Amino acid sequence: MAASTVTSEAPAYSEAQAIDSVRHPVARRIADVLRNRSSRPKIILIDDAENIEQAIASGIQLDSLYSTTRSIASGQSNPQHVSDDVPHHLLDDRVASELFGGQKHARAFALARAPRTPVLDDLRGTRGDLVVLDGVRLVGNIGAITRTACGLGAAGIILLDSGLRTTFDRRLIRASRGLVFSLPIVLTSRTECAQFLQHERISIATLSADAESPLRTIRSVTDRIAIVLGSERNGVSQGLNDLANHRYSIPMTPGVESLNVSVAAGIALYEHGAA
Ligand SMILES: C[S@@+](CC[C@H](N)C(=O)[O-])C[C@H]1O[C@@H](n2cnc3c(N)ncnc32)[C@H](O)[C@@H]1O
Repeated sequence: MAASTVTSEAPAYSEAQAIDSVRHPVARRIADVLRNRSSRPKIILIDDAENIEQAIASGIQLDSLYSTTRSIASGQSNPQHVSDDVPHHLLDDRVASELFGGQKHARAFALARAPRTPVLDDLRGTRGDLVVLDGVRLVGNIGAITRTACGLGAAGIILLDSGLRTTFDRRLIRASRGLVFSLPIVLTSRTECAQFLQHERISIATLSADAESPLRTIRSVTDRIAIVLGSERNGVSQGLNDLANHRYSIPMTPGVESLNVSVAAGIALYEHGAA
């Protein structure tokens, strides 16, 4: 066993010598993954034990697993269900901090083989509503909507002008609690999205706080729909609003301007699911 490699058995942790330089080949590889700006990364980074476990449950293959000396000192447990043949390295916490620079870093993380990037075709013939996020850029909101969409049986998410290069963005993996691997999330343009929905005859339902129809009327729509939500700043784009078959608002207490987009998404999915 290499000095920097640990096994999942507890005693080996304390005996293992942590990687203590960013120039170590293992550390360099992590740095390469963090630097990669490709829209089709081959290797991705997954933070935190629970996200790693969720990824494994979705069939993601781990390449290697990492613990930091801080995680060992705090007695943090390892992710479950990691295959014995996945190399497990121990990193000095200072090395981890240096590698991640200003970015937040987890005490345990993994490198994994990226799954195939979802495309619009993957949403063809599926069941369940689609969630279209039109210019939503806050990764925390996209992650929360991913969790809600998974929890409420949506078939997928379409991201327009999200600012993300890849669905497997490290921040999105974390914000979705690893659920990005559980349903197709497609990055595309407004034009391609509109063409896809029209071709598939999927009705478009936009949500805006000032739309005339109250959301409860969505229950009369029995087919699956694309629920379109807008950006934190600008709302749904004019182009998609013009194409909409339905425009709904969620009635609110006077004086409240709007709901958080992830809350609105959850209410709409739930309301339509009750149809
Ligand atoms: C924070 S809001 C955006 C507010 C934006 N200034 C606007 O005018 O739409 C983000 C998105 O959440 C959805 N949303 C928020 N409150 C809503 C409500 N009461 N009814 C329907 N949709 C709502 C809309 O899709 C909206 O574009």
